[in-house]
Amino acid sequence: MKTILVFQCLLFTNFYLQFSLAENGNPYKHKVTLDPKERYQLEWLVNWDEKRVTFNVTVLTNGYIGFGLSKKGKMSGADIIIGGVGKKGKPYFTDRYAIGNQLPEIDESQDWTLHEAWERGGVTFLSFSRPFDTCDENHDLPITDDVLRLIWAYGEVDDDLQYHFGHRGVYNVYLLDPDLAPRNRGEARRIIPVWNITKDLRVPAKETTYWCSFHKVPTKTKHHIIGFDVIFPTELDRRHIHHLLLYRCYAPIGTQPETIFGGPSKTRGNECYAPVEPDTLGFKYCSETFYVWVAGGRHIFFPEHVGLPISEHGAEYFMLEVHYNNPNLIPNLNLRVSVEAYYTNQLREHDAGMLYIGEWSPGATTLLVPPNSIDYQFLGHCAPGCTQKYFGKTGNIKVFAAVQHTHLSGRGVRVLHFRGKKELPWISYDDNFDFNFQQFRVLRKEREVRPGDQLIMSCNYDTTEKNGSVAIGGFGTRQEMCHSFMYYYNRVPGASNCLSQIRTKEYNQTLGIESVIWDPSRVDMVITNPTQFAGLTMIEYGNNHVEWDIAKREEIQRHHRFQPQVVMCPSSLPEGYPSSIATGDDEHLSEFPRNVKRYSRSPQCRQAYG
Ligand SMILES: *[C@@H]1O[C@H](CO)[C@@H](O)[C@H](O)[C@H]1NC(C)=O
Ligand SMILES: *[C@@H]1O[C@H](CO)[C@@H](O)[C@H](O)[C@H]1NC(C)=O
Ligand SMILES: *[C@@H]1O[C@H](CO)[C@@H](O)[C@H](O)[C@H]1NC(C)=O
Ligand SMILES: *[C@@H]1O[C@H](CO)[C@@H](O)[C@H](O)[C@H]1NC(C)=O
Repeated sequence: MKTILVFQCLLFTNFYLQFSLAENGNPYKHKVTLDPKERYQLEWLVNWDEKRVTFNVTVLTNGYIGFGLSKKGKMSGADIIIGGVGKKGKPYFTDRYAIGNQLPEIDESQDWTLHEAWERGGVTFLSFSRPFDTCDENHDLPITDDVLRLIWAYGEVDDDLQYHFGHRGVYNVYLLDPDLAPRNRGEARRIIPVWNITKDLRVPAKETTYWCSFHKVPTKTKHHIIGFDVIFPTELDRRHIHHLLLYRCYAPIGTQPETIFGGPSKTRGNECYAPVEPDTLGFKYCSETFYVWVAGGRHIFFPEHVGLPISEHGAEYFMLEVHYNNPNLIPNLNLRVSVEAYYTNQLREHDAGMLYIGEWSPGATTLLVPPNSIDYQFLGHCAPGCTQKYFGKTGNIKVFAAVQHTHLSGRGVRVLHFRGKKELPWISYDDNFDFNFQQFRVLRKEREVRPGDQLIMSCNYDTTEKNGSVAIGGFGTRQEMCHSFMYYYNRVPGASNCLSQIRTKEYNQTLGIESVIWDPSRVDMVITNPTQFAGLTMIEYGNNHVEWDIAKREEIQRHHRFQPQVVMCPSSLPEGYPSSIATGDDEHLSEFPRNVKRYSRSPQCRQAYG
């Protein structure tokens, strides 16, 4: 742990020297405004030596301050403090826990420490701290790698604690995140060039639209992208854009990128997976994932020794895929989104790439979660054969950041890591996954993946909120996905997509479906055989024609967990490109590792916090 901290500090010092941007050198110090009226400011600092988080709260009020940690953003079950400065300038501060929405009870075990409190000129300030894990399993929540919701509140007066409900809210946060962003973003934008990829679109009046457009890099020689942010001009834009992806495009060998992508880059683009004006270029030439942003995500800035290369061979194009979500079918919805990619010609030590793992294809009917499942597990493999094929010639890679992606029913995500007969600690996980906060995390500790290692993306779903409906894989937010996008170095061009899908034969037999086809007009898979079910979508079939008794549920779950999966790890380079990826079988079976020593999260109160 120590070495990492030192390492991080060094990184930050360099960053400081390079751009003179950072106000302070600690990536574990954060500052945010929690309320839209900008009256409630929070600063926090993670102290890894003491495994303790210090919170400084500054609020424009003479009354009391409430602050808490919660799992779901509700009062109930939250670990809360209430404090302030009373009548005679006397501070008060109590550790509490909430049962319902009434005034939180005082906790017998007082685990938060007040360091400082003052009130002047209409401002109240509290500085307090808490260990990661208080060992109070009854009324506190441990601070772990699971996302938490901060609950905040304040009152206008000190003595009426009941009366706070006007000023309160919830903020999603991963407290332990190292934030490598320049502290002064205005200054950063002035000093570091930004490639601003702005997409304006009049969105069709249908629930799900995937729109693809082509964009040329602003550079002609090799540069490194060192960070990304996504900007929405208004809440309207933010609300209707579910995710976006950037893919690197490769012109077929012997042609100039300009010839292939120059024309398309001057158009508004087209629907990515649609029957009309299908985007064939994207499918053929732009399959190397490069950046992803998902609902609720904030910026990401890379550690100082890595950068994403662009323009290695002159002009280069990227494809931007935006998933618009328009469930109320609003007509004439003009939306804008901008991806800001910060780049530099001061090349960093390592070239980074993105490794995309999980379920093979969105829309695959093999992702099916039975109705009213509480904790259903679905897996996607990046097989030993694939890591061998991708990295066998160049050697180990280091994963340094990751974001996991599911849709509405996702409740937990883990990137499992197996080597030989052993399961290593998960590369990234979140057992309190929040659809509305899918944020890239820079890993505290880089993770080495060796050729021959197996990575398994694991997603846990809860379909109890779907009113008795199954959840099916698909493109819309109401359908499901299971993916992880990881940044790694050293980059192997073309080593990007490492996916899998359970074998359909046995699965078909279990479900009683023989064949399906993609129906573009319904934007869904539709059954063709057996003929008695022809024309039904998989959701209709799953909801009305499958008897979901315990045996059936267990059978399907067993399939998802343990059936060998067909893996797909093609090179994302078009044919003829020089590459260090070994040729060979793209498609083979991957088994869930048997007889391995499984890794488990340390029990609470003795958390390892690796
Ligand atoms: C909190 O405030 C104290 C006292 O004003 C200051 O010394 C400390 O650096 C602050 N900590 C954070 C995390 O902002
Ligand atoms: C990028 O473009 C958007 C939309 O025009 C704008 O709001 C934003 O400030 C731009 N960013 C930079 C760094 O110029
Ligand atoms: C389930 O039904 C309730 C009540 O009719 C409704 O409010 C809710 O939106 C439905 N949820 C889904 C996922 O359809
Ligand atoms: C199983 O069903 C899938 C669609 O769900 C179909 O594409 C495939 O051909 C079927 N395979 C077998 C072996 O029946």
